[in-house]
Amino acid sequence: MSSSNDQHICLRMKEESGYIVSAAAPPIYETAPFFFNSYDHYSEAANDEKTHYVYSRGKNPTVQIVEEMLAGLEGGEACKCFASGMAAVSAALMCSLAAGDHVILVGHIYETTVSLIKYLTKFNISYTIVHSTSISSVAGALKPQTRVILMESPTSFTFDIVNIPEVAELAKSKGIRTIIDNSWATPLFLKPLEYGVDIVVHSASKYLGGHNDLVAGAVISSQHIMDRIYEEEYELIGGSLGPFEAWLLIRGLRTLPLRMDAHQKNGLAAARFLSEHPAVAKVNHPGLPSHPQHELASTQFKGYSGLFSFELKDSGYEEIRQMVNKLQLIRIGVSWGSAESQIISPNYGYNQQDLKKQHMPESLIRLAVGHEPAELLIQDLNNALS
Ligand SMILES: Cc1ncc(COP(=O)(O)O)c(C=O)c1O
Repeated sequence: MSSSNDQHICLRMKEESGYIVSAAAPPIYETAPFFFNSYDHYSEAANDEKTHYVYSRGKNPTVQIVEEMLAGLEGGEACKCFASGMAAVSAALMCSLAAGDHVILVGHIYETTVSLIKYLTKFNISYTIVHSTSISSVAGALKPQTRVILMESPTSFTFDIVNIPEVAELAKSKGIRTIIDNSWATPLFLKPLEYGVDIVVHSASKYLGGHNDLVAGAVISSQHIMDRIYEEEYELIGGSLGPFEAWLLIRGLRTLPLRMDAHQKNGLAAARFLSEHPAVAKVNHPGLPSHPQHELASTQFKGYSGLFSFELKDSGYEEIRQMVNKLQLIRIGVSWGSAESQIISPNYGYNQQDLKKQHMPESLIRLAVGHEPAELLIQDLNNALS
């Protein structure tokens, strides 16, 4: 469960910042430049764009509100919001790496992030994917040039858990930076900075936004790291979040504790139902006692979101196709974290070789449970599995 301080941050935007007087919802500063009453005033602002509003690619009051909320929720010193989760991941990686460096990816990382790392090889950055989340496997992949360890916990699609404090300690002892994608747990259920992780990234298009109407990202870290990101990756690459999207994200955050509670309850109900169904071989939900790392998960997370996967017995592409096509309430879609339940499988027929390379079973299906009544979701799954 989220703490009362988290709930407070979600419900109240900082009033002392000066730009909110007492409006229940903040204004959307839908402006590119800010005007100045005198050239002196402009000179002062242009010399310190980090603390003045000059141009919205750098700093915008609506975006600043959500950045302050997210920094508060994650317990970080500062945050910058980006136009997508991938822009946030790119900024965190590029700020931490230089030509010749090596990155370790722990477990099954979101595949577009893996593609980004592969893209970075053209700048002479190398990588190792460690297929197990164990600390010995991570330690075994270390090289003298390793500068970053990149994690997701749980891992995408397979829902393995990373022992975050162990990895953070190992990395610190070698002077390596750790980055974690915390989109699944949200800061309500996991605060990785408290475990010694250096940088937290989010796809805010998921639970933080929460309504399937927003693509956004965020990076949260120390002031020192965020200052560098602001001056380089944020300003120069220019993937900043627009004010309207920031406003949507503020609105999403204000109901985050309620929504995460509902995702958790519905997710566990659907996972329990599936784990008892004769057509289901396995359910990968860290909140179920049958999950091999359930004990670690229950010490690491304050709660579980509504995203998990399961495997059908003796099945491949055709059986998945038939099952998914029978669903009425649960929609076929690639995203997660919103009111509408969504289902997807990495097995879309043409990529059997890829699945093997990524150590993923052919019959894997990912379910993102939304806010529909649990009994209707279970009925929908039951009909599709029969
Ligand atoms: C775990 C994870 N991280 C990052 C991303 C990328 O986020 P975005 O789609 O907002 O760019 C996704 C998108 O699905 C994701 O699942």
